[in-house]
Amino acid sequence: MKRPLVFAHRGGADALPEHTLGAYLRAIDEGADGLECDVRLTRDGHLVCVHDRRLNRTSNGRGLVSTKTLAQLDELNFGSWHPGYPADEELPDLSRLLTLDRLLEALRDRGRPVRLLIETKHPSRYGAEVERKLVETLRRHRLPDERVHVTVMSFAALALRRIRAQAPEVPTVYLLEIPPPGVGRGRLPFGARIAGPGVGLVRLRPTLVPSIKQAGHQVYVWTVNRPADLEMVLEHQVDGVITDRPKFVLERLAEM
Ligand code: G3P
Ligand code: CA
Repeated sequence: MKRPLVFAHRGGADALPEHTLGAYLRAIDEGADGLECDVRLTRDGHLVCVHDRRLNRTSNGRGLVSTKTLAQLDELNFGSWHPGYPADEELPDLSRLLTLDRLLEALRDRGRPVRLLIETKHPSRYGAEVERKLVETLRRHRLPDERVHVTVMSFAALALRRIRAQAPEVPTVYLLEIPPPGVGRGRLPFGARIAGPGVGLVRLRPTLVPSIKQAGHQVYVWTVNRPADLEMVLEHQVDGVITDRPKFVLERLAEM
């Protein structure tokens, strides 16, 4: 059996505060093949690695990310909410806001190539700006290259179309929570090479992964955290496993 790629979802959100540099670097050190990162825009047009629209869950701030400037967000602590954050220590890598620029800078020269899955949040709310800014950022960092393999993901076909138009060399993943028409027969929109179904959908529709693979596409499944889910996606011979628990998945794969 070909071993799937293992991606640390939000940096490996189970053990450490999600979307912090410390979480991402730990996942690479533990052997993850790649990382998953959500990006959204600040009020002054910076791409920051934050999943939720609001700051409330993952920082000591309040309100919408899109109404704050980068300088305002840099004042906040993005780690202390998490049980994995040591209480009485100052740990900038586990508490500082992560921007896409900071992440790309840190991923250079890790000693081996790293795969980075970037999900744009939210193409419909930001208009075309989030994808335009993403492509501009990748160009500024001269990416993708052999050290950082970048793939862009979205639930919105529109976002995939924008990436294809501006950066056709960047592979894309079409994320799925429910299967839109055509995908069940292996058709993905706008040149997407990879399908990214949720693990619940894979369980619900056992024919989905085989039909997508038969059409010549790869399949990356999210978010695979439970042992039973991992066994199921491995039986489907998926190409990528996106997980909050990269260490657990890597250990299980090493046993096989
Ligand atoms: O990897 C895809 C997955 O992250 C999509 O869901 O809500 O965690 O961004 P979400
Ligand atoms: Ca995501």
